[in-house]
Amino acid sequence: MQAMGRPVLEVRDLHVHYKGHHAVRGVSLTVGDGERLVVMGPSGAGKSTLVKAIPRLVEPTSGTILLEGECVSCADRKTLRRLRARMGYVPQSYSLFPHLRVIDNIVLPLVRVHKLPKKAAVERAMRHLEMLGIGGLASRYPAQLSGGQRQRAALARALALDPAILLLDEPTSALDPESRSSVVDALYRIARSGRSMLIVTHEADFALQVADRLVFMEEGRIVVMAPPGEALRHERVKQFLSSILEN
Ligand SMILES: Nc1ncnc2c1ncn2[C@@H]1O[C@H](COP(=O)(O)OP(=O)(O)O)[C@@H](O)[C@H]1O
Ligand SMILES: [Mg+2]
Repeated sequence: MQAMGRPVLEVRDLHVHYKGHHAVRGVSLTVGDGERLVVMGPSGAGKSTLVKAIPRLVEPTSGTILLEGECVSCADRKTLRRLRARMGYVPQSYSLFPHLRVIDNIVLPLVRVHKLPKKAAVERAMRHLEMLGIGGLASRYPAQLSGGQRQRAALARALALDPAILLLDEPTSALDPESRSSVVDALYRIARSGRSMLIVTHEADFALQVADRLVFMEEGRIVVMAPPGEALRHERVKQFLSSILEN
């Protein structure tokens, strides 16, 4: 965790409204270089909205978002496209192009967005697939993979772009237990590699072991943001964790 210097991500007083619903209500946070922030909270708390609002996949109503000091919230279309390419956003499921093989899912953005030569792109893609234990599945189509393999391919694609930060929204929640554990393993590996991460997850062991800080959200607001040991002393966090451990 970086104590000094510029954070990778800064969010200040972010608000997001949907028609008639105020989903994010004044969220401020920073993610330092190499820091891992884990976001938890009940369904409807605004976690997904927050994670999508950072690359402006939903438009914030107000607030400031900075990536490596550059203004995302005030960026024009062209700048936004460039800044988005520095954020590895991975949604809960179904983020791969279904008509492309796994390898091409990864190679395509490397060639198009990062202007990498094809050969270098294939090498980089394979390195990330192998790192996440699915090197042997590169020629398959997404529909020929299990949920966990698909999610690992989506993580490999995000990582191959070498983002300044990974933004992950409940990467294991749509999976069966076996697939889940393969993705949790992948998450540990990614976390150990020193990548800056903002991850929404209810994987309690992962959160407690890996998070530099744990963020607990409720009704669009951050109610606790602290290192896990300290966060656990809050009654509401304790209660929430025990409720998910029971299920
Ligand atoms: N596209 C949308 N249109 C209107 N309301 C939405 C939309 N997406 C989410 N919401 C509402 O915003 C609130 C926060 O949702 P969400 O960010 O998905 O929460 P979480 O990820 O914590 O479960 C919920 O009340 C949800 O119903
Ligand atoms: Mg959600």
